[in-house]
Amino acid sequence: MIATSNSPTAVRSEDSHIVRPWQDVTAIGQNEATVLKGSSGIYVKDAEGNSLIDGPGGMWCVNVGHGRREIIDAVVKQMGELSYFSPWTMSAPVTTKLAQRLASIAPGDLNNVFFTTGGSTAVDSALRFVFFYNNCLGRPDKKQIISRVNGYHGSTYLSSSVSGKKSEKAHMDMAEGLCHFISNPKPKNRPKGTSVAQFGDMLITELEDKILEVGADKIGAFIAEPVMGSGGVIVPPEGYFKRCHEICRKYDILFIADEVVTSFGRLGYHFASKDVFGVEPDMITTAKGLTSGYLPMGALLISDRLINNINASTNEYRAFTSGFTYSGHPASAACAMANLDFFAKNRLLEHVRDIAPYFATAMNSLSDLPVVTDVRVVGLMAGVECELDASNPDEDRDCAFASKVDEACQDLGLLVRPIYNSCVMSPPLTITKPQIDTMVSILRAGIMKAAAKQ
Ligand SMILES: Cc1ncc(COP(=O)(O)O)c(C=O)c1O
Repeated sequence: MIATSNSPTAVRSEDSHIVRPWQDVTAIGQNEATVLKGSSGIYVKDAEGNSLIDGPGGMWCVNVGHGRREIIDAVVKQMGELSYFSPWTMSAPVTTKLAQRLASIAPGDLNNVFFTTGGSTAVDSALRFVFFYNNCLGRPDKKQIISRVNGYHGSTYLSSSVSGKKSEKAHMDMAEGLCHFISNPKPKNRPKGTSVAQFGDMLITELEDKILEVGADKIGAFIAEPVMGSGGVIVPPEGYFKRCHEICRKYDILFIADEVVTSFGRLGYHFASKDVFGVEPDMITTAKGLTSGYLPMGALLISDRLINNINASTNEYRAFTSGFTYSGHPASAACAMANLDFFAKNRLLEHVRDIAPYFATAMNSLSDLPVVTDVRVVGLMAGVECELDASNPDEDRDCAFASKVDEACQDLGLLVRPIYNSCVMSPPLTITKPQIDTMVSILRAGIMKAAAKQ
């Protein structure tokens, strides 16, 4: 969250040695960043003691809220007992229990848990598993991936190669010939005169056409977020995710649900694929809410079906030669266990399902503002799209405006995540109705303040 120098919450960064994510390298050490010194519940506290509502929930991750004593204590206890074990040759009870627990809450036969260090490494591992799987099955050409424009899947070489945010690829190299991109399923962008349902049909036809064009024998997997997060909270047309899955099954293409954002309560269930969208994927990638961001951890869940197919293959060497020093780290595993305990004890999934309609109504109330041209809400995630002149949209101008809204809201006590021309909200799931009211009224005031300055 970058604040301006005239913002009361802005603190000049003295991080002259930090290269931040997405750093403009001509400006190392010159960024002005809001320095945070504390956090509790849905609030963070800046260096000057101002409390701000954590609208983006960190980076879509602080699902149980900040400062939960039981999570902190569980991590400290675990570190005192066992600070590390080699995941290659050893095991630890806490990691074993976490894998069992994830298998028990995951949809269908997703019973095999490969621990990673975060979301990108979970996606990277999923893609490597696709390559491995098809090598084992004697189909070395079936390795290409289908993904979507504006999908975000991470920042390693492979995960960024299947990410569809063009602006982030300008000066970076991607894995050549790996990925084919199909349309962003954003209903607002549908062709004029087309209903959302017709748009959904068009998207499914496009997926099938792409498979036929490249050849099903060349496509290893389709990867998709159930709801695009970093693409701006894109809620696809009804039935889209399920129909994509059916097409993939028809052509023997693996279906990877990237649930790094949507898992662990964001949509009211531990995993959204099955419970919200009716799909049992072949693989699920998760991270973020798994530990509520208290410690780094991710996971790739793999179906029994895939493991059984590999076991039935004639290939002799079947080791998935992939792994990380910190796979299943005991402190992170203890953190995830305590995080899941918090969910259960506080009936957090039920809370999200109860409060989501209220959140949706509150967010949708912003659509009366002249600059707000689209409000997208599902579960406890929302994107409020702003266009200064809808009859003449200008991407750069509207993106700059979303950043101005962020600045204005910070002055008023709310962190916002500007993504493209949208203000994105994904607050801690513990948020209450009065807190939603406060958050939305600050967002309204911030949009109006930023608009008044145009
Ligand atoms: C859907 C999705 N996949 C993968 C990632 C990458 O996760 P990480 O930043 O933990 O590597 C993100 C991060 O925002 C994400 O939103």
